[in-house]
Amino acid sequence: MEGITDAPMRALQGSIGAFSYAVSEFLRVSGEAIPARVFTREVPELADRSTGLPVQVQILGGDPDRMALSALAACQAGARAIDLNFGCPAPTVNRHDGGATLLKEPERIRAVVRAVRQALPAHVPVSAKLRLGWESPGEIHHNAAMAAEGGASWLTIHARTRLQGYAPPVLWKPIGQVHSALGLCIIANGDIFSLDDFRRCRDETGCLHFMLGRGALANPSLSHQIARELGLPGCESDWDWCSLMQQLVTHMRALLGHSARLSLKRLKQWLKLAALHGDFAHFDRVKRCETLDELYGVLAGTPRVATKLPG
Ligand SMILES: Cc1cc2nc3c(=O)[nH]c(=O)nc-3n(C[C@H](O)[C@H](O)[C@H](O)COP(=O)(O)O)c2cc1C
Repeated sequence: MEGITDAPMRALQGSIGAFSYAVSEFLRVSGEAIPARVFTREVPELADRSTGLPVQVQILGGDPDRMALSALAACQAGARAIDLNFGCPAPTVNRHDGGATLLKEPERIRAVVRAVRQALPAHVPVSAKLRLGWESPGEIHHNAAMAAEGGASWLTIHARTRLQGYAPPVLWKPIGQVHSALGLCIIANGDIFSLDDFRRCRDETGCLHFMLGRGALANPSLSHQIARELGLPGCESDWDWCSLMQQLVTHMRALLGHSARLSLKRLKQWLKLAALHGDFAHFDRVKRCETLDELYGVLAGTPRVATKLPG
């Protein structure tokens, strides 16, 4: 998630969550292909794999040749899997021929996936991230088929159209239809905020793989609960917001040299998501904090949470 799941956040989620892998924030390919050094800078795990969470590099753009050259450079920097973003709804990105705007031209999705696939060694998987469509959810069928024809190894589908933005409803059923029709690995995504949401998404899509965004940030127990439900290792753990924030600040200092001021901004951004999409009830006090210590003080009074694991 652009501006949120950067290297420090991925490092933290790698140590506290139950994820199989992370996807980088998107890197936009515009006038020139992205050189390897940019991938090394933006995705430091490619050179130093000490976070323990494999990371897939995501790129975004509409020009097949520049996308292919960029993907190759990402592999030279150490990427072991590439994801192509055809879902970003940001107007600036869309105006510059990137993200969800390609959903209006499925053949161009095929061309980009194919060019990237052909440029990379066979052992490097190429996947695509899609929304259901630009305007109508039914567009997913052709778009997904084109991405598959281009050679995508799997698709991640966010269960909304571009015109919806992040507004309800989330529509998981079309993901299930694509899953049945294509016989390709499909990762279901969108509005999984609780174990109950997860169960409904699994039942409606028939998928075996899931991507968590805002829900994982709002509820740090969620990935463990879902892992257990899927029969994967998930651990029982206690956590509290104060210690999570302190750990993230440590990662931000170590990996990006963030100042206290910038770190405070990032912590507030995370806690705002936790208030919006989870049960964090102290954002009104947190948003007025002017120092990290003040914020830790507010959080120190909040209870520890025991990860509730299903039966
Ligand atoms: C602030 C923000 C930034 C995002 N950045 C990206 C991104 O860089 N690449 C991407 O594929 N999706 C991005 N997304 C979309 C999420 O990956 C995900 O598809 C969407 O939030 C729905 O899933 P969720 O309900 O689990 O959050 C972003 C979403 C948000 C809210």
